[in-house]
Amino acid sequence: MNAIAAVSLDWGIGKGNDLLFHIGEDMKRFRALTTGGAVIMGRKTLDSMPGGKPLPRRRNIVLTRQRDFVREGVETAASVEEVLSLISGEDPEKVWVIGGGEIYRQLLPHCRLCYLTRVYARPESEVFFPDLDTLPQWQVLRSGAIVSDGTLDYQFIEYINRRA
Ligand SMILES: NC(=O)c1ccc[n+]([C@@H]2O[C@H](COP(=O)([O-])OP(=O)(O)OC[C@H]3O[C@@H](n4cnc5c(N)ncnc54)[C@H](OP(=O)(O)O)[C@@H]3O)[C@@H](O)[C@H]2O)c1
Repeated sequence: MNAIAAVSLDWGIGKGNDLLFHIGEDMKRFRALTTGGAVIMGRKTLDSMPGGKPLPRRRNIVLTRQRDFVREGVETAASVEEVLSLISGEDPEKVWVIGGGEIYRQLLPHCRLCYLTRVYARPESEVFFPDLDTLPQWQVLRSGAIVSDGTLDYQFIEYINRRA
């Protein structure tokens, strides 16, 4: 499986259960990569989506410890082990860990690639992505040019997990 996230310069990813950035090209790339596949997220990330609804045209797997949690279009998993068993029949390249902070931390060791959008800004953040530059198993595989959406500079960077 792979992870995908938009991170600030200090690896921030969220505040007030919302995203830090809304960059059109980033959203487009997220849709293009994940559509048709399976997405894995934490219950708080599901709640942060419009209407708390799952993402269309994708298999939505949500981690929650609430045994009675039911939401239309969502499969639940009560542990990382349960997630791994649910996705065992999927093409690993089409399984995406999409956040948030708690879920990235627990599932990154199982990810082969991380598709990051590094945003050159430092907004106040409450939730963080692990700093891949301090984890020796994670190395930059490809990095795009730094581009701008008119307000924010950002760069697509892929990291590879040499231990996965
Ligand atoms: N920048 C990005 O790319 C990006 C992407 C996604 C999200 N975000 C942001 O990240 C923030 C949310 O992240 P977060 O860390 O607060 O929450 P989260 O990771 O989305 O969800 C945490 C919840 O997941 C469940 N959970 C966690 N570990 C579990 C386990 N081992 N087994 C079963 N359930 C488990 C629990 O749900 P229950 O409480 O229901 O038990 C927990 O409260 C938001 O601000 C969101 O906008 C940013």
